[in-house]
Amino acid sequence: MPVTLALHGGTPVRQTMLPYGRHWLDDDVAAVVEVLGSDWLTTGPKVAEFERAFADFVGAREAVAVSSGTAALHAAMYALGIGPGDEVIVPAMTFAASANCVVFQGGTPLFADADPETLLLDPAQVEAKITSRTKAIIAVDYTGQPCDYDTLQAIAGRHGLALVADACHALGGSYKGQRVGTLADLNTFSLHPVKHITAGEGGVITTDDPALARRMRVFRNHGITSDHRQREQQGSWFYEMVDLGYNYRLTDFQCALGMNQLRKLPSWVVRRQVIAGRYDAAFAEIPAVELLGVLAEVSHAYHLYVVRLKPDQLEGDRATIFRALRAEGIGVNVHYLPVHLHPFYRERFGTGQGLCPVAEAAYEEIISLPIFPRMSDADVEDAIAAMRKVVEAYLR
Ligand SMILES: Cc1ncc(COP(=O)(O)O)c(C=O)c1O
Repeated sequence: MPVTLALHGGTPVRQTMLPYGRHWLDDDVAAVVEVLGSDWLTTGPKVAEFERAFADFVGAREAVAVSSGTAALHAAMYALGIGPGDEVIVPAMTFAASANCVVFQGGTPLFADADPETLLLDPAQVEAKITSRTKAIIAVDYTGQPCDYDTLQAIAGRHGLALVADACHALGGSYKGQRVGTLADLNTFSLHPVKHITAGEGGVITTDDPALARRMRVFRNHGITSDHRQREQQGSWFYEMVDLGYNYRLTDFQCALGMNQLRKLPSWVVRRQVIAGRYDAAFAEIPAVELLGVLAEVSHAYHLYVVRLKPDQLEGDRATIFRALRAEGIGVNVHYLPVHLHPFYRERFGTGQGLCPVAEAAYEEIISLPIFPRMSDADVEDAIAAMRKVVEAYLR
């Protein structure tokens, strides 16, 4: 008997939409309210406290807090001195900000294709793109799985390039026992509400290089060498702007929120891994659904849970399955349209179809299922039931 799909007036698996990601706040509110009653709403003591706690968590010497993950990437490009004429290799399969940061500095992003199993940056494709103008590689820990950093470090070392980890998906993960946040010269994070921990908006860069950290602290504060609190402590009004910077500061109340969230991070990463394990077991039984590969010796932080829908086994394309799952109350999403296919990049840099065929083919098949720590076991089972129902209805 054919399945009655919600799309055609049948009963949906859920009455309310299960989002693909969601923040979780409880005692955090009190921590924020306390700072709201203090003398410092911004550029106060909570910034340094949060930076220390974040650096200690990942095991890096320095953490620099900024106003978003995008600002973190921009600061990283600035710190490395990326400018006009410089090329930076970036993955095609990522959020646009991973490449935009190069353009902010006047540099040129060169798009490298993905590994077909993991959809992580393919090191062989990276090496093939390197020219005499290449200055850095930005690796993205897509969905929360750390990239193959040993191989990427070896390539960067051979060619004298800086390695940046856009780890916005991977806070709490590790590679060969080493924490994400220590795997590259500069490691960037986002504190957006769908990420592992949130500060409303926010970003962090971790590094073991104090000189790079200093440069980024100046950059986030208009290019000025001292901040308001330091001047107050020194009883001085004098400051100088030594370079063109931005206001990329994170407020004290956001840092209080980030600090409180950080305490819960280890258990939240475990919960994400448990949910992913349940999905893996269920979807391994559905031939039309293909799981992404996971490297040996990584601890995957599962910001996203992405599967591929096999077009040869399904009547409907990804858009059809997407609509059907949404109609069942499952807030699926798609991450990502490869960056080189966005109109901005096509127009500005002449990129287009055929540049990164693995990422382009994957884009037609990928779908992101809900995953966030507060998801109940019943929510997880709803997502699985909806996937089974929809795939069965569209099976060839
Ligand atoms: C891989 C990646 N890099 C960078 C960013 C930018 O972070 P933010 O939204 O905090 O600016 C995101 C955000 O979604 C991301 O997924």
